Amino acid sequence: MKNIDSKNHLRGESIYLDDIPILAGTLFGVAFDSPVAHGEIKKLDLTAAIQSEGVVRIFTAKDIPGENQIGGIIPDEPLIADHEVHFCGMPVAFVVAESDELARMAIRKIKVEISPLPVITDPREAQKKGHLIVQPRTFKIGEPENAFKDCVHVFEGKADSNGQEHLYIETQGAYTLPMENGAIKIYSSTQGPTAVQRACSKVLGLPMHMLEVDVTRLGGGFGGKEDQANTWAALCALATYHLKRPVKYSLHRMEDMRMTGKRHPYSSDYKIGLDKDLKILAYEATFYQNAGAAADLSPAVMERTLFHCTNSYFIPNVKATAYSCRTNLPPNTAFRGFGGPQGMFVIESAIAHAADELGINASEIQKRNLIRNGDEFPYGQIAVSEANECWEKAEKIFDLQKMRNEVAQFNSKNQLYKKGIALMPVAFGISFTKTLMNQARALVHVYTDGSVNVSTGAVEMGQGVNTKILQVAAQIFSIDPSMIRVNSTNTFRIANTSPSAASATADLNGRATQIACEAILNRLKEVAAMELNTTVDSISVNNQCVFVKGEKSSLDWRQLIMAAYLRRVSLSEHGHYATPEISFDAKKEKGHPFAYHVYGSAIITVTIDCLRGTYEFDSVNVVHDFGASMNVIIDRGQVEGGIVQGIGWMTMEEVIYDKDGRLRSNALSTYKVPDVYSVPKEINIDFLQTNVDNLAIFRSKAVGEPPLMYGIGAFFALREAMKAFNPNAKSTFESPMTPERVLMTLHSDELIINN
Ligand code: MTE
Ligand code: HPA
Ligand code: MOS
Repeated sequence: MKNIDSKNHLRGESIYLDDIPILAGTLFGVAFDSPVAHGEIKKLDLTAAIQSEGVVRIFTAKDIPGENQIGGIIPDEPLIADHEVHFCGMPVAFVVAESDELARMAIRKIKVEISPLPVITDPREAQKKGHLIVQPRTFKIGEPENAFKDCVHVFEGKADSNGQEHLYIETQGAYTLPMENGAIKIYSSTQGPTAVQRACSKVLGLPMHMLEVDVTRLGGGFGGKEDQANTWAALCALATYHLKRPVKYSLHRMEDMRMTGKRHPYSSDYKIGLDKDLKILAYEATFYQNAGAAADLSPAVMERTLFHCTNSYFIPNVKATAYSCRTNLPPNTAFRGFGGPQGMFVIESAIAHAADELGINASEIQKRNLIRNGDEFPYGQIAVSEANECWEKAEKIFDLQKMRNEVAQFNSKNQLYKKGIALMPVAFGISFTKTLMNQARALVHVYTDGSVNVSTGAVEMGQGVNTKILQVAAQIFSIDPSMIRVNSTNTFRIANTSPSAASATADLNGRATQIACEAILNRLKEVAAMELNTTVDSISVNNQCVFVKGEKSSLDWRQLIMAAYLRRVSLSEHGHYATPEISFDAKKEKGHPFAYHVYGSAIITVTIDCLRGTYEFDSVNVVHDFGASMNVIIDRGQVEGGIVQGIGWMTMEEVIYDKDGRLRSNALSTYKVPDVYSVPKEINIDFLQTNVDNLAIFRSKAVGEPPLMYGIGAFFALREAMKAFNPNAKSTFESPMTPERVLMTLHSDELIINN
């Protein structure tokens, strides 16, 4: 089935925040944000700005009736800076005017005096000074200290990965409307409607039932709107609270890039030990996460780094420690993979380091150590593994040997162009790592004409979750998809939603939908049995008709619904789902946190132009474990998109803050994301469909995040190509491997660097 939104997207008819018709009397807000990364506010002069044309009011921290606090996990983030600023981009005031142009004009007239305090942008420096967001955590299995003594080969090093701008096409924003009796309706471009509701409730001091958050769809979120949509919603709600008028704030691209956090940069140390047969016996890693100025989701992201520190490998002795380091950057946040990619980059670097030193191909170590059924992850969960199956199938169907031969042949014939090849296995755990978040609800109504309305906590952000929800209802009821509508996500219809994140949205909300639909269907079967004078067991509904013992009856779907209504049988149901079998003991750092894992293996090839440092990815060939894909078109799109986004993170996207904490890559002219010219020439995806039972919806495994990590292979393919040009190149494990860095690396042994 095609994505139900595809036609609307194509025609430009999909409704995003900016497409909501503006009510008469609407005002427009714009945040005035700190130009300084750290300092004390000495004076805030709003006089000229208040007198500026069209300005209605300027809000500061003093206007907050509730708590000036939007921190979700830890209360360490004021909505509006009060006496101190902690990062460039921190809101200091909120100007509300008759138009957004007038509000932006007024912003320029605000004068702020900030006496500067020391700025820290480096996580290791922050850690040394003790600026931590939370206590460090350590995951451990076996006896790594002793195991290193048994290793024939031990290598140590450092691996750093940089941040990544989400670059959702729709920027952040909110539109708030005053309702009866002080209630406020909030349209928000958020992945977490309840997070917005909670933040606004805290800031305004209003009970949550006064705040209706409604989300039609997002023009992309990628994690950037899991927590960070709260700010704009709370600012608008604050203005609506005081002015009793609708208020809208839709960020300009440069405001969005400057004020919001990104993927966490990490600096990490590793130590890897192997035996003579290339078995990894021991692994140690220390992660320094650059959290930015407030916790946001950093502790949870840090936790997932630890969960995925051994990627797809079984290592019997592991010790991994992570520090969440407070710096003066905008609070970094969720980004596809949620800390997992950062952890995987380090183990892949360690393996590549070992392979370099041993003069072998990294894939020999990778393959030798893939996790098998029954092996234990460092956090105690036992693997139900498809890792070997994916790897071996990829080797076979894409003819790895032939690919290698072609690369070698090309390299022997070409001097200035070189090819490289790398493999990237992935194992990604599905479930929120916080067990309690793995719950969802669905509200299903069947109307008397037989049409169906489904509401869930799922937010459609381009990943196709609404299509999957619709498929669930269509399949359970066995009716045509055109009979079903999936509603906007609304906190008055569905309460206490977990954010649409962790790739688990379709699993959680799809299961809740399934539960609700099955409950209605069971009642309908009872009605049919009465209508047709038979037993419930002999009734089935198929293709909009009622069957008795497999024989088509005279009763169709519409008649059945009407019969139920006439008998006063409920045609509505609220379904609740909580993932079974999962738990985690954070004291012991052991448990069974994931409903299941998604596995896969990618083979990536690249050609570099060694004169210019530029490169093109020739192919990405993947065997990916889908369980039993319920929507091949959508799932293929997710894998392709994830791969390209992962390659972007590892290669061309370069977030640059200067030492004063100011974002230099602050526009699309200075921040390069993959475009149609930089996607791999070929992406081939083999759907590994397995028969193993799993907890996914209809056994169709979650697909949103795992494919991003295939992109890590791009970094290592580039290294291989560089080695082919210059075996003495001094290549470090620092991403992104931009064309500039490729060029410098290719000639690194000739460069004399004067500092
Ligand atoms: N795909 C599109 N088109 N847009 C997005 O914003 N977000 C990604 C992924 N794929 C995203 C996307 C992220 S970060 C996650 S966690 C999942 O989708 C969330 O949706 P799911 O749980 O339905 O997979
Ligand atoms: N993944 C994504 N988002 C989250 C998680 C997670 O594990 N935990 C809290 N938010
Ligand atoms: Mo995705 S980073 O879990 O929103």
